[in-house]
Parts: sequence; C-alpha cells; structure tokens
Amino acid sequence: MSGDRNVVITIDGPAASGKSSTAQWVAEKLGFRHVDSGSLYRALTAALLRQGAPPERWTPAVMTGQGSRVALRPEPTSFLTLIDGVPAEEEIRGTLVTSHVSLVARVPEVRAWVNARVREAAQDHDVVVDGRDMGTAVFPEATLKIFLIADPWERARRRLAQRLERGATEEEIAAETALLVQRDARDATQTVQAKDAVVLDTTYLTQAEQVERIVALARAVSHEA
Ligand code: CDP
Ligand code: CDP
Repeated sequence: MSGDRNVVITIDGPAASGKSSTAQWVAEKLGFRHVDSGSLYRALTAALLRQGAPPERWTPAVMTGQGSRVALRPEPTSFLTLIDGVPAEEEIRGTLVTSHVSLVARVPEVRAWVNARVREAAQDHDVVVDGRDMGTAVFPEATLKIFLIADPWERARRRLAQRLERGATEEEIAAETALLVQRDARDATQTVQAKDAVVLDTTYLTQAEQVERIVALARAVSHEA
C-alpha cells in the first residue's frame, strides 16, 4: 500500500481474542511488519522475574530499569523479542510471566516505555500492531483500527488448544476461562477501545475468515485515502 506516511493497522482486544496470530497473518498478507506490544510487557516482566527480587520490591524505577535488557529485532514480517540479546519466546508466554504481567503493565512509566518502543518499531515500515490500547494511546491516527472480541469460554478453549496442542477437557477450559476473566479485569483500565474501531466478534469465525475481513477492510481504507 502506498502513501506519504506509513500505514498503521491496530488490533486491540482482551486476552486470547486472537490479536497476535491474526496480526501476524494480516502482516504477511499485506507485506507489513507485525509489532506485538504485549511481548514487551511480557519481556520486561520476565526480566524482573529473572532478577529474583519479590514483586513487592518492583518500584516503577526498578521496572523500567530492566528496559535496557529488552529489545525488538526486526525480521521480514515481524519482530523477535529479545532479553539480554537472546530470543525468549517460550519464557515470556509461560504461566509465571502471565500471572505477573498485569501488575507491571498498569504502571504508567512502564506504559510510556513500551509505547516508545512500539512507535520506534513502526517508524520505517507499514505495520500491524496488536495490544490493548494501540488504537487509542499509541496510534490515535491509525489507518485502520480493529477491536477483536470473542466469548470467554471460546477464548479459553483456543488458548489451551494453542498451548497443549490437543483438545482440552471441560474442567481445563473452565479453569482457563476463570484465569482469562481475572486477567481481563486486571487489564480493564488499560484496555481501551477506540471510538472509530471496527469491532469484530470472532466467536463463530475461523481464523482465516477474520484475517480475510481485516485484509479487505485494510484494502478498502487505503483506496479511500
Ligand atoms: O496474548 P494475551 O492477550 O494473553 O496477552 P498479551 O497481548 O501478550 O499481553 C500480555 C499483558 O500485557 C496483558 O495481560 C496486559 O496486562 C499487558 N498489555 C497491555 O497492558 N497493553 C498492551 N497494549 C498490550 C499488553
Ligand atoms: O494475541 P491474543 O492473546 O489475543 O490471541 P492469539 O494468541 O493470537 O490467539 C489465541 C488462539 O486462538 C490462537 O491459537 C489462534 O490461532 C486461535 N484462533 C483465533 O484467533 N481465531 C479463531 N477464529 C480461531 C482460533
């Protein structure tokens, strides 16, 4: 897509609504780069956990002090999240990081640090960025804003299928639903839907369908511009 300034597509929504995988797929279809803002909150949390100090001692300065250990390395259609120069994908998606990340993400100094990294990543390329507040706090002028939602039970089922690589039992899905709803509540203040976002309920869509819809919207919007 062409134009004077880079195209920015934002995809926001609650936990496991499909943001990252959809953003990555859309980026590949359009030749954009995917920026995963959640991975920065996760990496900062993982760096803090590695240090070993208990969370009660994580002051805003201690949290942002870990920022120099975290970096995004550009790849053709994405960024790899590094801690101390090494990819840490498995660690940042782990349950320990997941249960501590909202605590870190609610600190304004941390949010300012993440937002600055995301803006840097978007400087020289057309991007698809995903998170909770990309269409509001970071890119209020984005070309296209999407807000993904899905039924919590379905989100939990998908998250478990992704993690376990097998079908989950009803009990496992119920426990995961409770964790997701709890994290949504902790993230509520930082999850901000833009007034001009297109809301997509993916409960009854396949991943391919939701990707197609976003790609079609992106093409329509860029022809308008
Ligand atoms: O994939 P999932 O939705 O479970 O989480 P994520 O996108 O990797 O984000 C992890 C955590 O980072 C969230 O639970 C939020 O606490 C925080 N986050 C945020 O506050 N704002 C963002 N733009 C992105 C993530
Ligand atoms: O980034 P976020 O936490 O919002 O979600 P994700 O990790 O991208 O997606 C969670 C899982 O749901 C992934 O395994 C997706 O492939 C899957 N999924 C989906 O996003 N949409 C569907 N319609 C079906 C499955």
